[in-house]
Amino acid sequence: MKKRVLVASNRGPVSYEFGADGTLTGRRGGGGLVAGVAGGLAALTPEAEVSWICAALSDADRAAAHQRAAEEPGAVPVRMLDIPPEIFDRAYNNVANSVLWFVQHLLFDTPEQPRFGPEFRRDWAAYRAYNEAFADAMADEALSGPSASVRALIQDYHLSLAPRLLRDRLGGSPAGIAHFSHTPWAPPDYYRMLPAEVGEALLDGMLGADHVGFHAGRWAAAFLDCCEVILGAQVSRVSNADGAAGQVAHRGHVTEVAVHPLGVDAPALRARAGAGDVRAHVTALSSAAAGRKLIVRVDRTELSKNIVRGLIAYRELLATRPEWHGRVVHLAFAYPSRSAVPEYRAYTEQVRRIAAEITAEFGTPDWNPLILEVKDDYPRSLAACAVADVLLVNPTRDGMNLVAQEGPVLSERGCALVLSREAGAAATLDGGALLVNPYDISETAAALHEALAMPDAERRRRTEALAATAAASPPARWLGAQLASLDRLA
Ligand code: F6P
Repeated sequence: MKKRVLVASNRGPVSYEFGADGTLTGRRGGGGLVAGVAGGLAALTPEAEVSWICAALSDADRAAAHQRAAEEPGAVPVRMLDIPPEIFDRAYNNVANSVLWFVQHLLFDTPEQPRFGPEFRRDWAAYRAYNEAFADAMADEALSGPSASVRALIQDYHLSLAPRLLRDRLGGSPAGIAHFSHTPWAPPDYYRMLPAEVGEALLDGMLGADHVGFHAGRWAAAFLDCCEVILGAQVSRVSNADGAAGQVAHRGHVTEVAVHPLGVDAPALRARAGAGDVRAHVTALSSAAAGRKLIVRVDRTELSKNIVRGLIAYRELLATRPEWHGRVVHLAFAYPSRSAVPEYRAYTEQVRRIAAEITAEFGTPDWNPLILEVKDDYPRSLAACAVADVLLVNPTRDGMNLVAQEGPVLSERGCALVLSREAGAAATLDGGALLVNPYDISETAAALHEALAMPDAERRRRTEALAATAAASPPARWLGAQLASLDRLA
């Protein structure tokens, strides 16, 4: 029997724009989740029937959802859900991005935030409705054929309630349900700042799945702790080479919890970097650097990416190590993200201000120490990774971090990786990277100096080791491991 794989995620593999004449143009959706799932599905498609359910994120997406333009021949069939804008806004911006993301990344300024009153309860009702819309669509797809062959792969914190809601809708039919978190997971003491009914519902929702996955052992362990402390569920913990982390027995159902690190498809990434658009950027960046060393970062302008402390660490490097003046350029790509959330708008302003201060303080007529780029440009990002001498990845907390893995794979002359110990990727890249405490600006500045001064042979040796680690967990393997777990549990 052919397997039927249903993926559900907020952001889908395609997003639409209106052209000047009102026609719709589709382009590939961005972010680590989409890259991982799309890469994994590409390897799978011949043996499975796949469909991808996602939310319409814009008016153009909504129009496409109605024209069913989302179904492009040759690509994975996409079903975009036109969730009413007010429900979507409350669920995505007010709950998923402003509360759940903040909890899992420990981002709250706790003397002030969060505040859970009646408005939040309205947002929470919308989050439930949003999850119900996904569960309805998945059940509809699942029940359109033999359900024993269905494998539902539900992604991320937007859809924490969906596994339970789907299980209820399938009424005991034998589909396999998995949930994967691309974020970290908070320890119980922080997680329990959520209203009790919300914290419990999220865990209970995810435990509707047969298999729950995380990128790193730390996040799986914190999830198990929350299940035990918040829900009083029966938890058992294991640790083995296959990534098993434990099991949770709750409401008569056992959920397996496991670790599946997501790396990169190295051959595909290198092939993409060989294309003309990337090569043109490589040439332009190399001539802009004019023989100076390049420190590169590539991030969404995201609070947890810690761009502000990264810039302050660069300022400290220049202030304490004048030998680098005129010999280094920091290329900081900070692409727009979640501008509907006020904290993100304020953070973006802070990034711009500090970058301008650094340029004003250290720049000379012959030397621009910092180039901040805020316009998203994928080929240019690949080119920057290819020519970087140092890659700075310093999130305060990150589920995995793909840039830390793409950088070494793309590097053409060896690149020293300065990596936050709080990124999920640090669990596998610790051998080759210079690990830092992301809150310690002086330690980060010292690591930047060490990375810049690293002998070429050492830098190349470390880069090769890092690239091999990143290439060892390609999306096909990541997705295949989750499907294999569901097959085993069926
Ligand atoms: O879980 C992380 C993630 O979903 C990544 O895929 C991506 O980097 C980011 O969040 C995208 O966020 P958004 O879809 O809100 O832009």
